[in-house]
Amino acid sequence: MDILVTGGTGTLGRALVERLRHDGQAPRVLSRSAGEGRDVGDLRSGAGIDDAVRGADVIVHCATAPRGDADTTRTLVDAAARAGRPHLLYVSIVGIEGVPLPYYRGKLAAERVVAGGPLPWTILRATQFHDLLATMFAAGSRTGVLPVPAGTPFQPVDVTDVAARLAELAVGPAAARVADLGGPQVRDVADLGRAWLAATGRRRRVVGLRLPGKIARGFRSGAHTAPEHADGTVTFEQYLARS
Ligand SMILES: NC(=O)c1ccc[n+]([C@@H]2O[C@H](COP(=O)([O-])OP(=O)(O)OC[C@H]3O[C@@H](n4cnc5c(N)ncnc54)[C@H](OP(=O)(O)O)[C@@H]3O)[C@@H](O)[C@H]2O)c1
Repeated sequence: MDILVTGGTGTLGRALVERLRHDGQAPRVLSRSAGEGRDVGDLRSGAGIDDAVRGADVIVHCATAPRGDADTTRTLVDAAARAGRPHLLYVSIVGIEGVPLPYYRGKLAAERVVAGGPLPWTILRATQFHDLLATMFAAGSRTGVLPVPAGTPFQPVDVTDVAARLAELAVGPAAARVADLGGPQVRDVADLGRAWLAATGRRRRVVGLRLPGKIARGFRSGAHTAPEHADGTVTFEQYLARS
């Protein structure tokens, strides 16, 4: 099967490429920079995309940028439609309707591009990756304490669990919106912060900040969690021990 992974150099994409190879596939990777086994292309400018999508049976779209995914996803969909309508598998985020972050609005718009477009499609929404929380904690801890949003649950998932689900979906038929994928535990972010401090040997006081606004309220409501789909297998502590 010809599988193209956009964002195959990213946090999730690397895990997916490894998983697909483990499963006996030989995925191609789309990247803006050259490297072994890579197709060079830029979804922002469109350069190289027609060549990259040519011949693909499946495109797993993991590329993302802080400016949002809608325009780049449209570029990908248009090129793929010209190239023979491969199955497009898009990775999105759980509960994005409930948290009005600009980045999440962009994910919603990109989902509409995928679902309203001409390609057979599948969308998998996942909760936040362990890596994201670890990065947040590392940045926050530079202040001398560990600031976290007060009263806010997270359900982090390991990229290897997301990669395993994507690898399965990639070789199956287009399935539209599939069940969300959440990590194995929904926990207060302060508790996750303490686990991160213990694993990294840092001494900090965890300080819960009551943040104003709809975004913080959305996160406090747990809109971004999927307790009914706690199907991830790797806990935050297991991730920390591994990394
Ligand atoms: N992080 C989370 O907690 C989380 C949770 C749920 C879902 N997701 C979703 O999972 C997906 C992967 O996230 P991630 O955290 O693994 O991303 P990431 O590590 O930030 O990687 C981003 C990738 O996008 C590629 N990229 C960026 N701009 C590009 C462009 N203009 N053209 C082509 N490629 C471009 C980069 O490739 P090059 O630099 O090599 O070009 C890189 O491989 C995203 O859709 C994200 O929304 C993330």
